[in-house]
Amino acid sequence: MNSLTRLLGWVDARFPLTANWKAHLSEYYAPKNFNFWYFFGSLALLVLVMQIVTGIFLTMHYKPDVNMAFASVEYIMRDVSWGWLIRYMHSTGASAFFVVVYLHMMRGLMYGSYRKPRELIWIFGMLIYLALMAEAFMGYLLPWGQMSFWGAQVIINLFTAIPFIGPDISVWIRGDYVIGDATLNRFFAFHVIAVPLVLLGLVVAHVLALHEVGSNNPDGVEIKKHKDPVTHIPLDGIPFHPYYTVKDIVGVVVFLMVFSAIVFFAPDMGGYFLEYNNFVPADPFTTPAHIAPVWYFTPFYAILRAVPPMFGSQFPGVVAMGVAVMILFFLPWLDRGNVKSIRYRGTVYKVALALFIISFVGLGVLGVLPSTPLYTIFAQILSLVYFAFFFLMPWYTKIDKTKPEPDRVTG
Ligand code: HEM
Repeated sequence: MNSLTRLLGWVDARFPLTANWKAHLSEYYAPKNFNFWYFFGSLALLVLVMQIVTGIFLTMHYKPDVNMAFASVEYIMRDVSWGWLIRYMHSTGASAFFVVVYLHMMRGLMYGSYRKPRELIWIFGMLIYLALMAEAFMGYLLPWGQMSFWGAQVIINLFTAIPFIGPDISVWIRGDYVIGDATLNRFFAFHVIAVPLVLLGLVVAHVLALHEVGSNNPDGVEIKKHKDPVTHIPLDGIPFHPYYTVKDIVGVVVFLMVFSAIVFFAPDMGGYFLEYNNFVPADPFTTPAHIAPVWYFTPFYAILRAVPPMFGSQFPGVVAMGVAVMILFFLPWLDRGNVKSIRYRGTVYKVALALFIISFVGLGVLGVLPSTPLYTIFAQILSLVYFAFFFLMPWYTKIDKTKPEPDRVTG
């Protein structure tokens, strides 16, 4: 026995290292037919780690103080060694996180990955999504630019629309009657430690739930139904390590190529990843002509604006926006189809999903544009399509003429 094996034996007697390696990697059997869409879970993990590491380094020079925040970010950009790279990796990373997570959720919709027995994987995923939105929203206040200030102003003011308790809630969130030092300090605390801790915990729960039931796949058939009688290994499963660890590296390399191209050549992405107004220090006395959230929030922002105020209150829009996000939690119970994967669904579901994607992207585009009467009508139509996808789902998934599902994965 060499010394390395002896060391491993010593550790294993005190900590389940080999047992966990086997359970989650070398003896975790994943379906052999993972495709392109299965890259995005591991990429989300990569971006999570990157955001945490670059965030730690940013914190070393950032100052959460209304008089110093903007200048401290400029200092990071100009004077701190490699500060510009760390900052652009973090700001581009925020958008990359949403790109990756939206594609990851999209895969769930295509292959019915949220359905029994994976409801909890989906629910943990949705909680991650909510935490991610909170993380991005609070992070955007920190550079204390015009959009940081006015974006936060618009969003926090939405809470004022809640009947009776709304105004008190918005004061409570801000810690002041206006967005100020108290707000910046608490957003810093939440962005840097509270929400990342929650995110990490949720991601662990997400992957544990996944490994309990096993991964779904592009065919939407359960590989655990057909096991080798002797070894009890799923016949259509392959060990995650080395097969998918190696495959995922391909995704990582391609991702890093695209990511680097953006970080080095277009870090503001034409104003979509970093808005131009945020290069101007926050000024509570000058409202920018056009306030729009960053692109990943714009579909919901467009829904908010599409709903007309009632008795001068924006409350109906706020409710619609809230429902638009929360309805996703119920997906596992809204879908009544008898197959999981899009491959075996009928035309009805395919059309419904296509319309849903068009509505989501369309709302996202409308959300960055200033609202005009014509755009408002478009946003209202697309909002109806968005909600119809969910509210009519129990009906159209039931009447959809599905194809017979194969017994084993098709490769
Ligand atoms: C920080 C964000 C997230 C991380 C790090 C993450 C990580 C992962 C990983 C590593 C997997 C397994 C690999 C794969 O199937 O791609 C996975 C699967 C899954 N995730 Fe996520 N995830 C995140 C967010 C989400 C969100 C927001 C949702 C949906 C609301 C979601 C829903 C799912 C589902 C349904 C599966 C199972 C897919 C299948 O087996 O077909 N995840 N996730």
